[in-house]
Amino acid sequence: MIDLDRIRKDFPIYSKQPQLVYLDSAASSLKLKSVIDQVDSYYLTLGVNVHRGAYDLAYEATRLYEEARVTVAEFINAKNEEIVFTRGTTSSLNMIAGSYRDILKPGDEIITSELEHHSSLLPWMVTAKHTGAKLVYIPLNKEGRITVEAFQSVLSDKTKIVAITHVSNAMGFLTPILEITKLAHQKQAVVILDAAQSAPHIELDVQKLDVDFMAFSGHKMFGPSGVGVLFGKKELLNLIEPFEYGGEMADEVSKDIATWKDAPLKFEAGTPVISGAIGLAEAIRYIKSLGLNEMHEHTHALQKYTLEKLSQIKGVTIYNSSSENPVITFNIEGIHPHDIATMLDQDAVCVRAGHHCAQLVNKFLDVNSTLRASFHIYNNYADCDTFVESIIKAKNFFEGF
Ligand SMILES: Cc1ncc(COP(=O)(O)O)c(C=O)c1O
Repeated sequence: MIDLDRIRKDFPIYSKQPQLVYLDSAASSLKLKSVIDQVDSYYLTLGVNVHRGAYDLAYEATRLYEEARVTVAEFINAKNEEIVFTRGTTSSLNMIAGSYRDILKPGDEIITSELEHHSSLLPWMVTAKHTGAKLVYIPLNKEGRITVEAFQSVLSDKTKIVAITHVSNAMGFLTPILEITKLAHQKQAVVILDAAQSAPHIELDVQKLDVDFMAFSGHKMFGPSGVGVLFGKKELLNLIEPFEYGGEMADEVSKDIATWKDAPLKFEAGTPVISGAIGLAEAIRYIKSLGLNEMHEHTHALQKYTLEKLSQIKGVTIYNSSSENPVITFNIEGIHPHDIATMLDQDAVCVRAGHHCAQLVNKFLDVNSTLRASFHIYNNYADCDTFVESIIKAKNFFEGF
């Protein structure tokens, strides 16, 4: 059972702002005290670089950094050398799309979808332009979901890459990735999974999923911002070229040529986000101590409770009642989402309004903008009630009641 009172104490922002109703965790989660302590401790007691110095402080920093890699690897059932620390999902996905500029050829196809966050779409759009490869979109079903059948309809011998979201940030829909990966591999295509929204909510096992690359961010799962993960199958990481070049990634350098270290170091050019990796490891330990299934049970219950209340308000259109992630995306007839979000802020209710960096979703829904309320483990039923009351208040205000 989730002990909500204890959990809220683990997130120091609530002691500073007890009234806060934070419903924007899909953008970034709140931060744990223990994560902040770990980051602090690194800066207070170490603060030095990793993999370089031949002195105790450097050894200790390296030990903590490499231990963080082990923690991440265990979290997703990967090998240690398959974990690359990056600045976040965006940089992980750009690295892979950048590396494939040397591999893709004119006529090759990259399968993607209209559900993608721009981080999972734009790097491939640019790589397609550089290489002459073609972007192919999986037709979404009426609800806006990716289905296996629709994926099959675009899969072909030309497919070389499948770059796809695991859970849509705008809709919260879960992609049937197991089946998709199986089919993609029958065509020898490489599957790159954007797990930014699934990592904070769903158990990820890269052995079971069998994806070739996967990316996620620390800041959406109670960890620090500025750190993320790129998982890659060992043989693929060793096959592709790095996207960034610099310190600690080269093996042998001569005047005209250089060779690279083995993965993951060849992808970690320059000083890595040491404190971020250490903080992320702490966030993962916390998530494991609660259990993702228990967390999901709680957030799913809040989502269901709020959906019921919200759907009773006249003029509210909900676009994703069946979403697997605890995300409610909606609009209120005749009122701009930004106006609603600004009114909600007066009651300390934080929601997202806009296109959520996934403009193709809005085009699919045929709207300019939506409101998105997203829940996480620290939310309670009082948050849901305040949110709904605040929506009614804002609606009445704009409708002149
Ligand atoms: C599905 C998805 N992919 C990618 C990203 C980009 O993550 P980051 O900004 O941490 O790089 C986000 C962030 O909102 C996201 O929700």
